[in-house]
Amino acid sequence: MPEVPRILIIGGGVAGYPAAIRASRMGAEVTLIERDAIGGTCLNWGCIPTKALLQSASVVRTMKSAETFGIRCHGYDVDFGAVMKRKDSVVSRLTRGVSALLKAGKINVVQGTATFVDSKTVQVNETGVKIRADAILIATGSKPGSIPVEGIDGPDVMDSKQALSLTSLPASVVVIGGGVIGVEFAQFLAAMGTRVTILEMMPGLVPGVDREVASLLEKRTIMSGIDVVTGASVKGIARMGAHNVVTYTVGDKTATASAEKILLTVGRRPDFSPIDVDRVGVRHENGAIVVDEHMQTNIPGIYAAGDVVGGIMLAHLASAEGECAVKNILGTRDAMSYRAVPSCIYTSPEVASVGLTEEKAGQSHDIRVGRFPFRANGKAVVLNDLEGMVKIISDGTSGEVLGVHIIGPHATDLIAEAVLGMRKQMTAGDFAHTIHPHPTLSEAIMEAAMTLTGGAIHVP
Ligand code: NAI
Repeated sequence: MPEVPRILIIGGGVAGYPAAIRASRMGAEVTLIERDAIGGTCLNWGCIPTKALLQSASVVRTMKSAETFGIRCHGYDVDFGAVMKRKDSVVSRLTRGVSALLKAGKINVVQGTATFVDSKTVQVNETGVKIRADAILIATGSKPGSIPVEGIDGPDVMDSKQALSLTSLPASVVVIGGGVIGVEFAQFLAAMGTRVTILEMMPGLVPGVDREVASLLEKRTIMSGIDVVTGASVKGIARMGAHNVVTYTVGDKTATASAEKILLTVGRRPDFSPIDVDRVGVRHENGAIVVDEHMQTNIPGIYAAGDVVGGIMLAHLASAEGECAVKNILGTRDAMSYRAVPSCIYTSPEVASVGLTEEKAGQSHDIRVGRFPFRANGKAVVLNDLEGMVKIISDGTSGEVLGVHIIGPHATDLIAEAVLGMRKQMTAGDFAHTIHPHPTLSEAIMEAAMTLTGGAIHVP
């Protein structure tokens, strides 16, 4: 590498932009090419805007329960336009912040679509300008998946990005796919007043999540007034008057669900279509770019990070991979570990997990499972947020924590402690014997660990 290496990063999402900032702080000359908006899916059409919308849904829930706290509200109205406007202002504040950081790092941001010319050069399609670099990081992200059924290209069928641009609240929506995005959107729309049906192919919502936790979330989703159909195989969508009718089967029975709009949330897949990796021989398998633990592809000097490498597609993991890639490019050896990657669902109640589910852990270990319900936690009682629990799975012999699953208030913030503990290979005893502040929700983690090490105080 030359004294000041030139690094080119394709894609300004949560894999690409933190990598650009890290590389510039490590002394590289960095160019970042982005064809759309800095911040990528996460900031513009994913994590951030959906969480902003869910915060509005949370305000609705607070209004509905205000009387419990001694506050009488005389009704409320949803101003959907204002809800969407607030979401936009949250996004623009954060994207402006990222742009300022890129500027401060003297990162050369190029607007355009990159295509490989050779393994050290890309061309910006819109301008024809060629950019050479000593190393290239592909961080082009993912796009929504689809399903091959009739009517899927209809005008009322939206993906999550299109749903974020709705200008009026639909009276009814059928959500196809009851995964993370599907359930988050379903809960937001239902809180705003939309009639929502979820059609999920698998036997339960949010497949992949610890089954006990997932079924609690499913129960709460149904209780909030959302129709949930599991084991549903969608056969087609037809427009009938002002409505769209989705035909599906469950077992050998055929049924229909109709709505003004259809939201398709059946997963995302890596997207590197415009950059022509085949021209330079970058290996890809099953639609994802193949990398080693240092995030390097089979072509020396070409790295990839984030959703484009497939596997777990989460923003925080993408950032970690992007930083890992540039550290390796710049000579600091670093290797990715996927042992302690948290995943979060911002529903009501929130869900957050790290490590193995009970089902998975039980296949390879002799396990012990500790649970502590939020209804026995003082802070949860103060908040009047009693639903849910912390569940800790440990190895029966060593006591090492193998997985932590939280469903309940602020689960997505609470999980960070468990991530650190798992990263450091801590035991249930380490969690149980750590003094936690009182009164906090975090005590539920300590007490769940205590159930594995002599018993929790606040359950009989
Ligand atoms: P997902 O993989 O979580 O869920 C897709 C769901 O669609 C699955 O439950 C699947 O069984 C179902 N499905 C697939 N084909 C179907 C069909 N033909 N009919 C009915 N159901 C069908 O994918 P999702 O929700 O689209 O999210 C995409 C990615 O974005 C995921 O990797 C997710 O982890 C990430 N993400 C994470 C968030 C978070 O951490 N809070 C929020 C949003 C997205």
